[in-house]
Amino acid sequence: PQRNEFRSRLLAWFDEHARDLPWRRTGDPYAIWVSEIMLQQTRVAAVLEHYDRFMGRYPTLRALAAAPEDDVLAIWSGLGYYRRARMLHKAAKFVVDELGGVLPQSAIALKKLPGIGEYTSAAIASIAFGEAAAAIDGNVERVLTRVLGWDEKTALPGRLREEAARFLAQSRPGDFNQAMMELGATVCLPRSPLCLQCPVQPQCATRGEHATGERPK
Ligand code: ADE
Repeated sequence: PQRNEFRSRLLAWFDEHARDLPWRRTGDPYAIWVSEIMLQQTRVAAVLEHYDRFMGRYPTLRALAAAPEDDVLAIWSGLGYYRRARMLHKAAKFVVDELGGVLPQSAIALKKLPGIGEYTSAAIASIAFGEAAAAIDGNVERVLTRVLGWDEKTALPGRLREEAARFLAQSRPGDFNQAMMELGATVCLPRSPLCLQCPVQPQCATRGEHATGERPK
């Protein structure tokens, strides 16, 4: 695959088409962290209905850490999967109590916090701190699998991770990761991808093949 061409086309497309989302207007690692936790199991549209309220109530990591858990859960209501809110709160308290209130800056260190796994640690590290860590969620997995023309047997997690790292734009890893998510969410759709609108169609091994909703699942 032509990775350089893929990267520059994807980033140019993102520069023009990226949705204007509140967590893209900030460089505050805490605000980015909150958005990634909310986005773990919830669609962008639903997160938008709650994000500003949450950030208004808890504008800083310290404000969140100081809040009683019941209040945090009440503000979280509507987003569901309350375990995320409990973990976020617990992690905020840990950062304040044990780390001087400063969020760790590397994916490896972030992953040690409650509620932050492989995907979320890479997302935060790349978006907030510019670390070249590939964030692989379901959307990214689908995009990569199709671009490479892999089938389900080939697309094992370890191989996908390796390929994702090779594709990643070292110069703008946070934008690259978000562009991959955005492409998967708005163009490279699971059932009927909009290949004619895809900026990396020339770099895709399976362009145009999915109109019938078949491979890869
Ligand atoms: N899903 C997870 N993280 C996201 C982000 N930063 N932008 C859009 N969708 C996402």
